[in-house]
Amino acid sequence: MECTWTRKDLLSIYDLSADEIRMILNTAAEFKKVSERKVKKVPALRGKTVVNLFVEPSTRTRISFELAEQRLSADIINMSTDASSLKKGETLLDTVKNIKSLQVDIVVMRHSASGSPNFLARHLKAGIVNAGDGAHEHPTQALLDIFTMREKKGSIEGLNVSIVGDILHSRVARSNIWGLLKLGAKVTIAGPSTLVPKEFERIGVRVCDRLKDALEGADVINLLRIQHERQRAGFFPSTNEYARVFGLNRETMKYVKPDALIMHPGPINRGVELDSAIADGPQSVILEQVTNGLAVRMAVLFLIGGCIKND
Ligand code: CP
Repeated sequence: MECTWTRKDLLSIYDLSADEIRMILNTAAEFKKVSERKVKKVPALRGKTVVNLFVEPSTRTRISFELAEQRLSADIINMSTDASSLKKGETLLDTVKNIKSLQVDIVVMRHSASGSPNFLARHLKAGIVNAGDGAHEHPTQALLDIFTMREKKGSIEGLNVSIVGDILHSRVARSNIWGLLKLGAKVTIAGPSTLVPKEFERIGVRVCDRLKDALEGADVINLLRIQHERQRAGFFPSTNEYARVFGLNRETMKYVKPDALIMHPGPINRGVELDSAIADGPQSVILEQVTNGLAVRMAVLFLIGGCIKND
């Protein structure tokens, strides 16, 4: 039975029930059909104002949210650090107070500080959508990843999903792990031991030290971007060493099932975590993830738009 959506905010996947996740995925499936029509625009958010507050760089998420808002007929305000008074030292709370006085309906927020969308949600009646906060969560990325897996594999229950890379600092990994476990997938994580906390075993995740163990038997392999600053901080010896031991390439593809999906949230470090031949190869669904991101973000904004009450 479908649940009823009651949240004004989407702050994390951790907060959601399995039914709420399914409701977003099912709503996204309907919006994907809209995106395939000749007329792709619907009036669902007509008269509503959405602020995109991106205080950290983004390509995919920012463009995807903006297009989703346009497709839903919302009025849009784009704010970024470089083009706002945040650069002049204005505090986030002062920015929030200004947003509040403009009576906007939804704020989509990316910030390097974990928990900043929760802070916003406590101070605003507007709906808050977390577009990635520090190393905490990136809920819409996980939803579009899970949507893509479900679309390709039919069901998430019992699916073997391996996430490879810097789990310790990855908001994408955290959101994926919570969502996949809630929907009954079997989740494996792998990478250098300095970047793959053993503590994840306590919530039912399999932790591997060797790439081969994570690849064999996996239905989905989700590779994470290796952040170069982690190498400078000593989490692994060198980028070349990482590519040799944990990179997915023609050599390591021999452990991968022929029907396994290769996923990556982007941006890709080609030749490090993933070789171009695999990223652009027949098992890659990376660009389909981007396409599905639009439908998922339309669904999230649509559901939240139905729950907000103006100040
Ligand atoms: N996947 C993702 O969040 O990409 P961007 O940083 O480009 O938004």
